[in-house]
Amino acid sequence: MKSPTLDPVERRLSQAHTIGDLRTIARRRTPRAVFDYTDGAAEQETSLRRAYQSFSKVEFHPNVLRDVSAVDTSRNMLGSRRALPFAFAPTGFTRMMQHEGERAVARVAERSGIPFGLSTMGTTSIEDVASAAPNARKWFQLYVWKDRAAGKELVRRAQDSGYEALVLTVDTPVAGARMRDVRNGLSIPPSLTLRTILDGATHPAWWFNLLTTEPLQFASLSSWEGTVADLINKMFDPTVTVEDLEWLRGLWKGPLIVKGIQNAADARMVVDHGADAVILSNHGGRQLDRAPTMLELLPSVLDRVGDDAEVYLDTGILSGADIVAALARGARGCLVGRAFLYGLMAGGERGVQRTVEILGSEITRTLQLLGVTAVDDLTEEHATLRQ
Ligand SMILES: Cc1cc2nc3c(=O)[nH]c(=O)nc-3n(C[C@H](O)[C@H](O)[C@H](O)COP(=O)(O)O)c2cc1C
Repeated sequence: MKSPTLDPVERRLSQAHTIGDLRTIARRRTPRAVFDYTDGAAEQETSLRRAYQSFSKVEFHPNVLRDVSAVDTSRNMLGSRRALPFAFAPTGFTRMMQHEGERAVARVAERSGIPFGLSTMGTTSIEDVASAAPNARKWFQLYVWKDRAAGKELVRRAQDSGYEALVLTVDTPVAGARMRDVRNGLSIPPSLTLRTILDGATHPAWWFNLLTTEPLQFASLSSWEGTVADLINKMFDPTVTVEDLEWLRGLWKGPLIVKGIQNAADARMVVDHGADAVILSNHGGRQLDRAPTMLELLPSVLDRVGDDAEVYLDTGILSGADIVAALARGARGCLVGRAFLYGLMAGGERGVQRTVEILGSEITRTLQLLGVTAVDDLTEEHATLRQ
């Protein structure tokens, strides 16, 4: 039996055996509006609910009597080997969830040998993330703004700071309607209203950290006070087309990834215009509601894109078994968003590490139970979808 620990973070995290457990802790430790901003999705939240349901429709088909004493969870992504077959998705406002924010997530990515995505809406600068985790594989996620020169400058800074890949997110021409945020009156940075002052009594640690660490502001754009939706609608450019992708292709020397693809024809189109990889994603259900589910969309995209680009997938991944299923069905890798944000809210950097431990051990166990000794040996025969 393990001896009990006095460290409250360790004690908390030792209770977390699944991502769902981390979510439960995160919800307790974080103000309602912040938890809801992370946990919630757009409109009726149907896109996200269906994504979760699609993973529960997976049926695994194991092989028995194989030696699975050692399994290899590594995967080639963008031409180099990663210890685990997933990446941390770019998420905005990460220091709002928990003050350690992007630096903590990037350091865990560095230690764990997986890519880290920094959002344009991140709360730590391109350069500060690079110096916090110099050896992490860092991807910079770009939104194309009305001010093209500002976007070009961000691309230059990411290139100069050694980021490996540029991720262009294309599912956000305008802000999705996240009804929980509307109802909670969420503003960035959180402002002091009667409700937030009362909340301070129930989440004192979160408020203390917010008020005593560097001010919460965007790393890539000048300060903003208002709602997320207003910010997106003011800065983001709804006129962006595939010509802008070609413009970026000309600016960026490394791998170019397009995130937010939701049908096979668009996947083909962006690959024909210079994308090296696509991420099938509906932004964690935070943009268009009733969008396709990525696990079901995957086969048609693989058919259309073939070997011309790598195909990644996100939205709704909450376990290592979800990742194994996506890989068996042909994805090169997965991205996780909420899974690591729950860890961050539950216990800062150590909480994010716990996320990786949980997902990693679930991937290993699922492979062993499937009778497979390497992620690369998964085939579509290992995972089908029940109708
Ligand atoms: C709180 C939060 C903020 C996000 N911010 C961004 C962002 O700034 N840019 C972006 O491309 N995607 C953003 N996303 C979407 C994620 O990159 C990813 O597509 C999504 O989280 C995957 O779904 P999952 O959370 O179910 O894993 C955000 C997601 C969440 C949950």
